[in-house]
Amino acid sequence: MSSQASTTPLAPNLEISEADFQHTARLVREHFGIHLTPAKRAMVASRLFRVVRERGFDSYHTFCQSMLQNPTYETLSLVVDCISTNHTFFNREPEHLWMLRDEVLPELIAAQRRNREQDVRVWCAASSTGEEPYSLAMVLQDALGADYGGWKAGLLATDISQNALKQAETGTYPTDSVRTLPKAWQDRYFDHRPDGLSVVKASVRREVTFRRFNLMNTSFPFRSPFHAIFCRNVMIYFEDDTRRALLERMANALAPGGWFFVGHAETISGLTNRFRLVHPGAYRKEGR
Ligand SMILES: C[S@@+](CC[C@H](N)C(=O)[O-])C[C@H]1O[C@@H](n2cnc3c(N)ncnc32)[C@H](O)[C@@H]1O
Repeated sequence: MSSQASTTPLAPNLEISEADFQHTARLVREHFGIHLTPAKRAMVASRLFRVVRERGFDSYHTFCQSMLQNPTYETLSLVVDCISTNHTFFNREPEHLWMLRDEVLPELIAAQRRNREQDVRVWCAASSTGEEPYSLAMVLQDALGADYGGWKAGLLATDISQNALKQAETGTYPTDSVRTLPKAWQDRYFDHRPDGLSVVKASVRREVTFRRFNLMNTSFPFRSPFHAIFCRNVMIYFEDDTRRALLERMANALAPGGWFFVGHAETISGLTNRFRLVHPGAYRKEGR
């Protein structure tokens, strides 16, 4: 194959060869679980162009060689920030939000009251730019109402992408995107600015803790088990073995009977027997 045929243009003097793409794909899979199919080569080339240039390399090849020799956390973070798909939006697959409100929380709150506990632990494990965890926090505030202040009911929101987390922490979104939410939420939980942006109110923002966390970490550092984990639309980027191992860690991170949510287009059947399907994309942990 000629060098022209085996490379994807980055810019006039920056190209990504098949071999360099394969090296990059291997590093990304090993460190972040994300499976880059050959069809993603042009996307990788165009998204990494800025990193290569900013780092002062004259070609993708020299950047890739340097990354292979010294795959630092910092460089890998830059790469995953460029290639991860952070696509999300308000009111995505909202049935799970209403399930949390109508089924998960009423049962959990009643059980906690019986045991004289006031602790609801929810983890949004691929929080991207924040639309999903803020919506979950709004459901929690609605469900607990005036009692909210007496409960430990914050939300943990994690993602691998630093750019997405930075954006999420601002809680600032185009007002048009917020309009897909119930009107009562638009009024109660947002400040709408004249410049066409809407900001999640501080009373909701302070209840969501954003942290960078790699789902590939083999041990999860959480002290107490979660009552519900939202892991939606992220395992689609992983291969079956990676999913299987992650599902095992997720089951271990859940309290008995805890809920596990994946995207509607995802299925975990055949990968684990730790969960029972309750509704589309909504599972409960079996046993202890
Ligand atoms: C398509 S978004 C899904 C966002 C949201 N959960 C939803 O359903 O709309 C996928 C997110 O998973 C994150 N992600 C990918 N690999 C990850 C990993 N190994 N650890 C943590 N987050 C990861 C990406 O950065 C991205 O923000």
